[in-house]
Amino acid sequence: MTTESLTGGAASQRLVVVGSGIAGLYSALLAADAGAEVVLLTKGALADSNTYYAQGGISAVLDEPAPGDTVAAHIADTLKAGAGHCNEEAARVLCTEARLDIAGLARFGVHFDLDDDGDPALGLEAAHSAPRILHAGGDATGAGVAAALIKTVLDFQAAGKIQVIGHAHVTSLSLGGPGGGRVVGANFLHDGRHLGVHGDSVLLATGGAGQLFAQTTNPSVATADGLALAWRVGAAVADLEFFQFHPTCMVLPTEAREAEGNNDPLLISEAVRGEGAILVDATGHRFMPDYHPDAELAPRDVVSRSIALHLTKLGDPNGHVFLDATVIEESRGKGFLAKRFPTLSKRTRQAGVDWTTELVPVAPAAHYWMGGVVTDLYGRTSVPGLLAAGEVACTGVQGANRLASNSLLEGLVFGRRAVEAFLVGDRDAAGAKGPAASRS
Ligand code: SIN
Repeated sequence: MTTESLTGGAASQRLVVVGSGIAGLYSALLAADAGAEVVLLTKGALADSNTYYAQGGISAVLDEPAPGDTVAAHIADTLKAGAGHCNEEAARVLCTEARLDIAGLARFGVHFDLDDDGDPALGLEAAHSAPRILHAGGDATGAGVAAALIKTVLDFQAAGKIQVIGHAHVTSLSLGGPGGGRVVGANFLHDGRHLGVHGDSVLLATGGAGQLFAQTTNPSVATADGLALAWRVGAAVADLEFFQFHPTCMVLPTEAREAEGNNDPLLISEAVRGEGAILVDATGHRFMPDYHPDAELAPRDVVSRSIALHLTKLGDPNGHVFLDATVIEESRGKGFLAKRFPTLSKRTRQAGVDWTTELVPVAPAAHYWMGGVVTDLYGRTSVPGLLAAGEVACTGVQGANRLASNSLLEGLVFGRRAVEAFLVGDRDAAGAKGPAASRS
């Protein structure tokens, strides 16, 4: 089968972005805004991404933080959750530059929930020392952010500034340039045809790989494509053994699955524990204090491991525990759950559980890959012309365990930095050697 060229010969300053989660959408907009020609390829529809399903939010210390909160505290929490394996400089960049990209999002039509005083409403999540999680639509942050960015991308497309190609399954990266060692484009399947697109650089923003596991919170598109593409052109990869399990994925009762024909995973956001929900076993025992002094607000890897250990101790290693959110409704008043978590209230009800009065069966599920394609702090991989940002990349910022709500932030900050590298000509990149150089 022949490979057709999608657009004519080489153009100067053309960025090919692969993936339409937060890193892909935001980078495409920034590059197009700066005058670059942008082609955005995505495997499904624009909304098919992990970003779309993110509930909790985006962590950021803004100009008016919660009392006592600081960027230094956000950095310290990130390093602590990362279990001594973070690239400290990457964590400093992430937390320090968060406010820049939250402002950048506003420019592209993204707005967050406000409190009664009209300031950003700040949520608390596990392993954060202060409330600093921005959210949208209560518990529909990813959907809100993605919808706004997609709308702006489509506006840019209508204005001829971005070319979007949906249902484009990238099968390989093209190498060329002097010595043939530079990535100069991407090849993809679209409508049964093999097509190719040239670019001065290709930015991988393909997200994660939860579908490699039997139980995952990730949508069906999360199949490690980006890592495979990069690996096949010789890019360095690292920390692949660090895969985070989210502690509270709802275990749908069989009847609910059969009734709806619905096997979509239902993540119960960390923010629910941030509001006070507790974990109990089948006997009603609240077990997390037996495992960690921070109980349900311990880092995510600790909570997931504790659930697994506890179930093993009970002799039911493949079983589940329960999230008790009724205590929130009791302490915060009737109607609080529906207001703060409208999507989860609806989805748990659809799955047959009224979480204002009943326990939600939950178990850990594969959620986020800390490892990935090695990049420096400007998204540059070890292969010239190939950039990567977001979950597919590994700057080392997330260490061995990502802090809650640092993932959308990672896509923003390092997506923007990758565009900055592209705009100054990433061919001058030193090239990423590995994320371990400045490990904490
Ligand atoms: C959640 O809302 O618990 C997921 C957000 C995240 O992965 O940080």
